[in-house]
Amino acid sequence: MTGLPQLPPLESIGDSVLAALAGMPDPASAEFAARFEHALAQAFARQHAVAVSSGTTALHVALSAVGVGPDDEVLLPALTVVMTAQPIVELGAKPVFVDSDPDTFDLDYAHAVSKVTARTKAIVPVHLWGRMGDPARLRAFAAERGLAIVEDAAQAAGTSRAGVLAGSVGAAGCFSTRDGKILWSNEGGFVLVDERDLADHMRAFRGHWLTPPPGGRPQERLGLPGRMPELIAALAQANVLRFPSLLELRRAQTIHLLGALAGARGLTPLQPAPDETWNHYSPLLHIGLPNPRAFAEHLAQLGVPSSTGSFRLVPCDTRPMFAGSDRAPCRGAAQILDRTLALVLTERDDEAVLDRYAAVIAREADAWRG
Ligand SMILES: Cc1ncc(COP(=O)(O)O)c(C=O)c1O
Repeated sequence: MTGLPQLPPLESIGDSVLAALAGMPDPASAEFAARFEHALAQAFARQHAVAVSSGTTALHVALSAVGVGPDDEVLLPALTVVMTAQPIVELGAKPVFVDSDPDTFDLDYAHAVSKVTARTKAIVPVHLWGRMGDPARLRAFAAERGLAIVEDAAQAAGTSRAGVLAGSVGAAGCFSTRDGKILWSNEGGFVLVDERDLADHMRAFRGHWLTPPPGGRPQERLGLPGRMPELIAALAQANVLRFPSLLELRRAQTIHLLGALAGARGLTPLQPAPDETWNHYSPLLHIGLPNPRAFAEHLAQLGVPSSTGSFRLVPCDTRPMFAGSDRAPCRGAAQILDRTLALVLTERDDEAVLDRYAAVIAREADAWRG
């Protein structure tokens, strides 16, 4: 018997997937993707949701819709995964990395200001680990410089700050539903958007421009193979209905694990900002031990997964394809990644799993000499 909240049964997902299967094969069908979009628009109170094949594709179609193209520059934090930068490059634009403040995890705005040029077209804030920066500050920064805001909210479904939902700060909010996300569907993604023109562009672009925006001609330009597959959409739609319960579970899991680690040597739970309603995506601990990254890697070898230990997350500006000798690396981002233990959870992690993680972490922290 677990003390974590019970989820609605998985049968609802099975029924939905079987219903999609019953209509297959049908090359024209997008019925379940449309249902997923409808459910999302309602759940997140937005005018439109556009279902796509991944979080990376969500960023790709959204950046295209706001007009990012060859020779543009796009600001993004170095504190992110490479998938945030990839669509910028695919569109022919240049990713320009901005540092983050190690105290707040928000963008380092002084650094951001120094990175703006006449070519800067957009900014892509990333709510890593579900933690969200100050939306008012971001809006003011972007508005003053005429930049479009396209949020990478891949990990932030359900977070809000000062009453603003992650994914609702600017023109478009991009999400991933890859397994591990709170709202999961094995693979997949979506964009939340209010402007009809942007949604029309994204719908055309995700599917080889076969269904053009009103007034356009089919395939008058190139697009992507980026639609959400119907079986995935059926799964995703069933999970939107479970989303409140999935959020509640992740919150309980994170609180349980952090509670079990209270007093662990050298480890301090990180708190959200006072005006932030955090989705508890990942239990976060500051590692005050020597050689902190090696500690996370050591835990991963013992079966405790984390962003740095398991996925070797490093600041994006230091990846080989972006690292340049001409600019200084983003030290705040490096410091955050090196010193944060960001544990990876899924809805399958019950109390026994969480207690095992806590026991291993506490034991190893006690013994760790770096
Ligand atoms: C912050 C962030 N951005 C973008 C992505 C890309 O999403 P996907 O893997 O669905 O393409 C992910 C997902 O892993 C992510 O965590």
